[in-house]
Formats: sequence, structure tokens, C-alpha cells
Amino acid sequence: MTPEEINAVKTSFAKVVPIADQAGLMFYEKLFQLDPSLRTMFADDIEPQSKKLMQILSAAVNGLDKLETIVPVVQALGLRHAGYGVRVEHYDTVAAALLWTLEKGLGPDFTPSVKDAWVKTYVLLSDIMKASSKGAIS
Ligand code: HEM
Repeated sequence: MTPEEINAVKTSFAKVVPIADQAGLMFYEKLFQLDPSLRTMFADDIEPQSKKLMQILSAAVNGLDKLETIVPVVQALGLRHAGYGVRVEHYDTVAAALLWTLEKGLGPDFTPSVKDAWVKTYVLLSDIMKASSKGAIS
């Protein structure tokens, strides 16, 4: 990713941070709307999960310009996800829910270049997660 793209992700994520609680809940609401069968993979109370997601996203966004610090964390996350029963195709549904949430949360600030930078970020993170769980998931 270029420094401009990293900057676009950091700047836009900073605008989501003040509404992180709502954004996290909106994300899961959208995810379960897109694929209701995913609901049973998560605990009834989605709030703690929502906070964990926002925390790791924040750490990943902060680490985009020093990838060596986040790669081991994201690899371990991917391996745990295989244990949660997560499959490769689920990553596309999560991508759709995440981009939708960013669009809702950022409004006009979710410009095409900001969206493109987020797509690259998600592909980067999810590729590491999928690779680390290769063989463990299908
Ligand atoms: C970039 C993509 C993703 C990120 C950053 C992410 C992040 C997280 C985090 C931080 C946790 C907390 C537990 C832990 O650290 O192991 C978690 C749990 C979980 N994630 Fe993800 N996740 C991603 C993709 C997915 C996908 C594609 C699915 C598929 C539906 C998924 C399903 C789950 C489930 C089922 C749990 C455990 C919930 C529970 O124990 O109640 N995640 N995720």
C-alpha cells in the first residue's frame, strides 16, 4: 500500500473511532442480515465481540506502516478463526459488511479513493488470516 493509501485509512478510521461502539454493532447487524447462518457462530451478546473487532482493527490500522509488527498478530488471529469454523467464503461477506459500515459511518468522507484504500487493507489482513489457516479451513 502507498503512504497515501495508508494515510487515507488512518484518517478515515480516526473519524470512526468516536462512533466505534455504534459502528461495531452496525457491522454485526449488517453481517447477520447478509448471512443469517453466521449468527450462531457468535455469542448471544455481540457487544464484547464488537469491541474486540474495533480494537484489533485499530491496532491493524495503526500498524499498516510497520507491517512486521502486525503480521504475527494477524496470523494468530487467522488460526483462531479456523477454530471458530470460519471458512474462506465467509471473508467476502465480512468484507461487504465492513465496507457498508464504513460507508454509513463516514458518509461523504467515504470517497472512492478511501474505499479503495480500505479494500486493500481488508485484502491484506484477510489474505494473512486465510494463509495462516491454510489446511485448517476449506
Ligand atoms: C479481517 C477480518 C477479521 C477480523 C479483523 C476479525 C477479528 C476478530 C476478533 C478480534 C475476534 C475476537 C477473538 C479473537 O481474537 O480470536 C474475532 C472472533 C470471531 N470472529 Fe472474526 N475477524 C475477522 C473475520 C471474520 C470472519 C470472516 C468471520 C466469519 C464469520 C469471523 C467470525 C468470528 C467468530 C465466529 C469469532 C468468535 C466469536 C465468539 O467466540 O463468540 N471473523 N474476530
